[in-house]
Amino acid sequence: MADYDYDVLVIGAGPGGYVAAIRAAQLGLKTACAEGRETLGGTCLNVGCIPSKALLHASEYFDAAKGGAMAAMGIKVTPELDLDTMQGQRKDAVKGLTGGIEFLFKKNKIDWLKGYAQFKDAHSVEVAGKTVTAKNIVIATGSSVTPLPGVEIDNAGGVVVDSTGALELASVPKKMVVIGGGVIGLELGSVWRRLGAEVTVVEFLDQLLPGMDLDVRKEAAKIFKKQGMTLKLSTKVTGVAVEGKAAKVTVEPAAGGAAEVIDADVVLVAIGRKPNTDSLGLANIGLELNQRGQIETDHDFGTKVSGVWAIGDVIPGPMLAHKAEDEGIAVAENIAGLTGIVNHDVIPGVVYTQPEIAGVGLTEEAAKARGGVKVGKFPMLANSRAKTNHEPDGFVKVIADAETDRVLGVWCIASVAGTMIAQAAQAMEFGATSEDIAYTCHAHPTHSEAIKEAAMAVTGKPIHI
Ligand code: FAD
Ligand code: NAI
Repeated sequence: MADYDYDVLVIGAGPGGYVAAIRAAQLGLKTACAEGRETLGGTCLNVGCIPSKALLHASEYFDAAKGGAMAAMGIKVTPELDLDTMQGQRKDAVKGLTGGIEFLFKKNKIDWLKGYAQFKDAHSVEVAGKTVTAKNIVIATGSSVTPLPGVEIDNAGGVVVDSTGALELASVPKKMVVIGGGVIGLELGSVWRRLGAEVTVVEFLDQLLPGMDLDVRKEAAKIFKKQGMTLKLSTKVTGVAVEGKAAKVTVEPAAGGAAEVIDADVVLVAIGRKPNTDSLGLANIGLELNQRGQIETDHDFGTKVSGVWAIGDVIPGPMLAHKAEDEGIAVAENIAGLTGIVNHDVIPGVVYTQPEIAGVGLTEEAAKARGGVKVGKFPMLANSRAKTNHEPDGFVKVIADAETDRVLGVWCIASVAGTMIAQAAQAMEFGATSEDIAYTCHAHPTHSEAIKEAAMAVTGKPIHI
């Protein structure tokens, strides 16, 4: 049998890769992880989930102070923005958490191979000029921004930026145009709107947030408009012209029609992300991509090439950190000869705006396409805690199979929807019916009671409405 330097070599140290490496090491496998970035943690910790949440959290306080939400509770303040300090705490959060992964690597005796890895064959890669061999290689190279043809992103210039540039802005733009009404556009658009920018979101489709339940998408649009965002739905960008420190964004109806020019001092391009595979040398191992540029795997996360596995944003499925993490654990367990499984039917998704928007399982549209459903809805306005906290926006919706009552999907718009959705995911993982949720005692007064009430509404019997 061939001798290898490692049992497992993971390429990429994002939430998929670093978790896979740690689990492999915990299972007694000799493990290395190649990462070309200067810090571990991938997109999520460096330029994604964590820094965006640091700015969302801080800007939410600023907005609450500025917009009267605090005054309604008897707290009168006139906030003053210190953007340098706000950006400083974002950088501190990133530094602390990426350093934490480095500590975990050391603790678990994982070798960090500093550099970008390229396959030489199915059991060897070249990293920083050295050849390293492994019995198993896990591709966890993640994703990067999808470019918009004809629009050049220049993060250093600070006018036409992607999400990484939008996190780094040194001053609050007066006018910001966001191209793409998806998760990044709405989260980062919200940050800069709260801090004072006039934000216009240009979305090609007729609703925001593709993939989410239609009721949720419509309600979200109402809420963002109420918060002061200008939404241009069914609209396409046909050109962005940069003149010095400003840009002119030309848009027209998606179906064709009269063009309009929108002035902006920052343009955020957020039209999706694409898998990172270009520099991996996949041709050297004969591994082909699917039509969407992703690496296909089997149920165990093995690719068509024996000994080569793949997880996270680089494979099909939602591009989410927790999905990548769970796949990281599962792939390591499968490599170790255990049974690692991810239930892709129950992956929650959360948009961290205010209110938060969250869902798990099927949309009502998708559930109806499969068969008969019963739907229960409950407005946050009728939830005592949300009402007391001055958080009236949103609702919870529970979708259950008409025959079996098994819960197929749960959708929430609520201030803490991201926390609330966990109980729905757990219930669905255990195969719960709407009755199971309705008869589970929920603490009072909590926002989560709205999930219980929506479950009660599936059979037409909510109490508080
Ligand atoms: P990544 O995190 O992309 O990590 C891949 C790593 O591989 C990178 O560090 C890269 O440098 C490295 N790499 C690539 N090629 C090579 C190579 N050849 N050799 C060595 N290393 C290589 N998801 C959520 O669930 N919640 C959120 O709140 C959230 N917020 C986000 C906000 C923003 C602005 C963005 C951009 C994304 C956000 N995401 C969020 C998505 C989340 O970041 C990704 O789904 C997640 O990081 C994917 O993990 P991954 O391990 O597959 O890849
Ligand atoms: P997205 O797929 O969420 O949204 C992109 C939007 O751009 C879509 O609404 C799409 O219709 C629109 N679009 C595409 N081409 C367009 C064009 N030419 N003109 C106008 N609109 C156009 O992608 P986004 O926001 O870039 O995020 C990328 C990924 O990162 C997502 O898949 C998401 O899962 C992940 N992410 C997750 C977060 C979270 O979990 N809270 C936060 C941020 C990102």
